[in-house]
Amino acid sequence: MASSAKSVVPAADLQSFTEYLRGCKRIVALLGAGISASSGLPTFRGAGGLWRSHDATSLATPEAFDETPGLVWQFYSYRRHMALQADPNKAHYALAELARRNEDFITLSQNVDGLSQRANHPVKQLHLLHGTLFNVKCTNFYCNYTEDNYTDPIVPALEIPKKSSGLNPSATDKTGEQASKAIGEALDDTSTEVDISDASNPIATVAREDLPQCPKCEDGLLRPGVVWFGEPLPEKTIRAVDKWIAAGPVDLCLVIGTSAKVFPAAGYVHEARSQGARVAVCNMDPNDTPGELHYGDWFFQGDAGVIVPEILKSVIGISD
Ligand code: OAD
Repeated sequence: MASSAKSVVPAADLQSFTEYLRGCKRIVALLGAGISASSGLPTFRGAGGLWRSHDATSLATPEAFDETPGLVWQFYSYRRHMALQADPNKAHYALAELARRNEDFITLSQNVDGLSQRANHPVKQLHLLHGTLFNVKCTNFYCNYTEDNYTDPIVPALEIPKKSSGLNPSATDKTGEQASKAIGEALDDTSTEVDISDASNPIATVAREDLPQCPKCEDGLLRPGVVWFGEPLPEKTIRAVDKWIAAGPVDLCLVIGTSAKVFPAAGYVHEARSQGARVAVCNMDPNDTPGELHYGDWFFQGDAGVIVPEILKSVIGISD
């Protein structure tokens, strides 16, 4: 069996998957942080799951926000900043194209980074299970204020500190090399930023009054519009997804870049199976499967940014 020289997927798996995919109508994809790892964004678990000395998941709770709103906002402001610096990768674009070509394909994303939206994934076919970093809402129980917000930093106190520019005249630099390096770095804004995800770089404590405040009730703090541990998924989203799953047999469930450990999101794989779906997993880690794989499932090991466009190539007509 011939495979293209650039292929990273075993040829037999690619062939059986492609043959099946061509006959698929109703397809659902579950996305996790791994798809955006290909765009340089950190995941939640394993390497990259620590932010400063904090387990990233421990900051994603209402209790953490109540106790240390400044720290939690610093974490989310950093994530907003990183997400805005990143670009969607070929996997995001490939899934967006599949959605344009097949209106019976829906994507359930656990990601809050906005990269699928920026890859022009049709919005009606994209369900954000965990909300988005670029929506904020009031924490006051009696206030329903919410807004889309892409301002970075959202308030001045959350600006990522800069390293000193190093533009002071140097008596020892006879070649000007040091000075031109410093000027280059000063022009490239991101290279002068302190890496505040590294606990060895101190950060200032941000006072409550300097955090984003609700303009409507003028009483509550604003918080990121993401779903935290212990909170329900957005009701409207769940209703739409449940309706779609119940509407008929599901042919295929793609599980891309997720440890599939967080419920209820991971439960959708089992729901798709109960509607007849075969499952295709794309992950760097062969142990990260949503339960046991069944006969007839596929596991594609590797970087989602490479694998996803390759396995969808025959139906979307693009790869790289
Ligand atoms: P995790 O950090 O739990 O898992 C990321 C998965 O991506 C792991 O299985 C990695 O092996 C895999 N991975 C890493 N790089 C990859 C790459 N380049 N290509 C393919 N796979 C790769 O992230 P999620 O599964 O998204 O929820 O976590 C689910 C939820 O838990 C998140 O939405 C978040 C988190 O806590 C909330 O904040 C509510």
